[in-house]
Amino acid sequence: MPGDFFTKKLTDQQGYDDFCQLLVTICGIVLGGNKQYLVSSRLDNLMDEHGIESLAELVSHLKNRPGSPIYTAVVDAMTTNETSWFRDSYPYEFLTEALLPQAITENKSLRIWSAASSSGQEAYSISIMVEEFLRHKQSTLKPVNIVATDISQAILNNAKEGVFHKMSLDRGMSLARINHHFELDGESWKINDEIKKRITFREFNLLTSYASLGTFDVIFCRNVLIYFSVETKKNILARIASTLNPKGYLILGGAESIANYTESFDVVRLKSGLVYQLK
Ligand SMILES: C[S@@+](CC[C@H](N)C(=O)[O-])C[C@H]1O[C@@H](n2cnc3c(N)ncnc32)[C@H](O)[C@@H]1O
Repeated sequence: MPGDFFTKKLTDQQGYDDFCQLLVTICGIVLGGNKQYLVSSRLDNLMDEHGIESLAELVSHLKNRPGSPIYTAVVDAMTTNETSWFRDSYPYEFLTEALLPQAITENKSLRIWSAASSSGQEAYSISIMVEEFLRHKQSTLKPVNIVATDISQAILNNAKEGVFHKMSLDRGMSLARINHHFELDGESWKINDEIKKRITFREFNLLTSYASLGTFDVIFCRNVLIYFSVETKKNILARIASTLNPKGYLILGGAESIANYTESFDVVRLKSGLVYQLK
């Protein structure tokens, strides 16, 4: 009975504590105390489907079978994929008002990393800005390549597909842009290939080595550090710093800050919001 199952999980304190600890190891996400309800609501059906009756049993499953379908499904379920188009505006204004003109002046191509890209809105918003910049300025901008990564396979598959329901487009995408950059695909909208072609999608856990990614001129690491411990934030920010090209930029979420976590960056204040530049 789902009801019994739910109750059993809520009262399994040791199982909950072990699960929280394992989740930190797997993906850095810190749930903290008293989030049993969240865990149950996200994992109930999944555990039912796999005939797993307690968090203790799930933990043992995950430990013994890293990378198994249930492991992947747990990561998909426990990550929060909240995102929107042109989120907070200022990173995208900074791109067209400062970064792209500077790339023209310096005659250089740009590599941009969307480090927790969720369903792709961030990477596609960047690419749309580049496309519009090219169209309006008819400029000699060298190629801009965007690498979009996320730990969740399921959300990354959505991102790669590039098909969005109207409800998701309503979160920040104007009608003019829908008409320009999307094609109707049944009841949804498919992003045009010219926007997609700049982006390489790749599954990537921010807790693992960054060596295979190469270096970047700009890193968008937005609204993901909030889920991690102070220790993990410091570790990720240090590795981000070593993944940036000299004087490269880091852009965090509107409510996030590097204060107390790293001294590798200078703060660049914009009209609204701020970004960080590698010292
Ligand atoms: C709230 S979304 C942020 C999306 C986008 N950056 C934005 O600001 O709109 C957070 C994303 O971080 C991803 N994530 C969580 N832990 C991660 C990890 N250890 N490595 C890579 N991505 C992770 C989640 O899967 C989720 O898609």
